[in-house]
Amino acid sequence: MSDNKLSTGSGQPWGDNNHSQTAGVRGPVLLQDYQLQEKLAHFNRERIPERVVHAKGAGAYGTFKSTKDMSKYTKADLFNGVGKKTPIFLRFSQVAGEAGYPDTLRDVRGFALRFYTQEGNYDIVGNNTPVFFIQDPLKFPDFIHSQKRDPRTHLRDNNMQWDFWAHSPESCHQVTYLMGDRGNPASYRTMNGYGSHTYKWVTEDGTAYWIKYHFISKQGVQNMTDEVATKAAGEDTDYLLHDLFDAIERRDYPSWKVCVQILPYEEGLHYKHDIFDVTKVVSHKDYPLIEVGEFTLNKNPTNYFEDVEEAAFAPANLVPGIEPSLDKLLQGRLFAYKDAARYRLGANYEQLKVNRPLNEVKNYERDGFMSQGHGPEVNYEPNSKNGPVEDHSARIHGDQLEGQTGNYEAYETDNFSAAGDLYNVMGEDEKQRLVKTIKENLGVVDDENIKQNNFIKLILIMGSGWQKHWA
Ligand code: HEM
Repeated sequence: MSDNKLSTGSGQPWGDNNHSQTAGVRGPVLLQDYQLQEKLAHFNRERIPERVVHAKGAGAYGTFKSTKDMSKYTKADLFNGVGKKTPIFLRFSQVAGEAGYPDTLRDVRGFALRFYTQEGNYDIVGNNTPVFFIQDPLKFPDFIHSQKRDPRTHLRDNNMQWDFWAHSPESCHQVTYLMGDRGNPASYRTMNGYGSHTYKWVTEDGTAYWIKYHFISKQGVQNMTDEVATKAAGEDTDYLLHDLFDAIERRDYPSWKVCVQILPYEEGLHYKHDIFDVTKVVSHKDYPLIEVGEFTLNKNPTNYFEDVEEAAFAPANLVPGIEPSLDKLLQGRLFAYKDAARYRLGANYEQLKVNRPLNEVKNYERDGFMSQGHGPEVNYEPNSKNGPVEDHSARIHGDQLEGQTGNYEAYETDNFSAAGDLYNVMGEDEKQRLVKTIKENLGVVDDENIKQNNFIKLILIMGSGWQKHWA
C-alpha cells in the first residue's frame, strides 16, 4: 500500500474505518460488512493467556561485553575472549501478581536474561534473590497457589502463604530475603540478579566446574520501605515499569556487572552445603566473585506485546559449554518453561521475533499452527539429501550417578542456619525493619496455629537477636 493508506489484514484497501455498512442511515448493520467482522473478531483474540507466574513485567534490549577470557572454564562462545559483544534481552517481573497488579508491592522480582549468542539463545532465568522457597519441583504449583488468590474469595490471603511456609521450613531462607529490604526494590535498575541455581561449565577438553551467577547493579542496590511502596502503588501501578522505560528513553542506560563463583567439580560435590539445593548459598569467602563481563540495557521495546509478552525464556535454553546441574528444582524447570510457552504462545513460539536466535535454525521439526520459514528441504533424518547433520561437539559432558530410584527427602536437612546467617549479616536497622515487616505480615493472619508455628520457627532461627527485636 502506498501513501500510508489503511488496509485489511489481507492487504485490501480499507474504505471506511468509522462507519459500519448499514441498511439505511438508521441501520441495522449488514452481514456483508466483512471489514467490521474482521475487526471485531481480531479484537476478540487480542489477549493471550498471561504467564501463570511473573505475569507483570518490563523488558529491554542491550549488550553484554565480556571483560575476561573464561575459556579455561567453559567453551561457551559468549564467555571466550575479551571484549566480545553479545546482544541481550532482559525481562524483570513481579512473581505473584497478575499483569495489571501494582509492581511495587512486596514480592521477589524476576530477572530473566537472554543472550543471543553465535551458538543459539542462552537464557539465565533468575530472580533478585540468590535462593528460592522450595527445593522440589513437585511443590511448585502448591507454593504458587498459596501466593495467589483464595479460590472462594478471589482475594490474596496472608493465611495461605504463611500456612504453606509454616509447613515448608525449607522456605525460611527465602522468606527472610522477601520480608527483608530486598522485598521492595526502589527500581528494577537498582537490584542485583542471581542465576540462583548451580550450573555447570565445561571446557573444550571436557573439564567441568560448578558455577553460580551474580549480576551486580552498577546503579547500586536501593530499596524502598513498605510505606513508600504502598504509596507508589496507589499513584502508579506501573511504577517500576515506568522507571525503567523512562531511564532508557532519557539515555540513562542501566548496567550490571556479570560475576561468577567457580567451584571445581569434585570440590563442589563435597562442599559444606548441598550446591544442588537452591535454598542454600555458596559463601563468597570460600569462592569469591569473579567478574567476567558487564551488560547494559539501551533499547526499549518497540512493541510491548511482541517484545515482552511474546518472550519465552527457558532454563533449558543452554549453549555448548553450559549444562544444568543435578539441582532437582532446576531439572523440573527444564521442562516447565518450554511447555508453558507452547500453551501460551503455540508450538512455533521459537519463530517469534523476540525468541528467534541469531543463527539459522536447521532441524527436522515442521508445521503446527503459524509455522513459517520452512521451504522444500528434506524433513526426515537420516537422509541422503544433504540435510543438516549432528554436531557431536555439542554432546553433554554428563555426570557419574549412583543410587536407587525413589521419592527422597532433601539431602541437606538444616533449613534454618542459612536464614540465621543472612539475619546476622544484616545491619541493626535492617534487622528491625525485617522484624517489623514479619510482625505486620503475620498480624493479618487469623489462624493461631499458623502464627504459633511460625513464631516458634523464626525464634529458633534468629535466636536471641530475634527475640530482642520482637519484644
Ligand atoms: C520448579 C520450579 C519452577 C517452576 C515449575 C517454574 C515455572 C514457571 C513458569 C511456568 C513460568 C511462566 C513462563 C512463561 O509463561 O513464559 C515462570 C516464569 C518465571 N520464573 Fe519460574 N518456575 C520455577 C522456579 C523458578 C525459580 C527458582 C526462579 C528463579 C531463580 C524462577 C524465575 C522465573 C522468572 C524470572 C520467570 C519470568 C520469565 C519471564 O520474564 O518471562 N522460577 N516460571
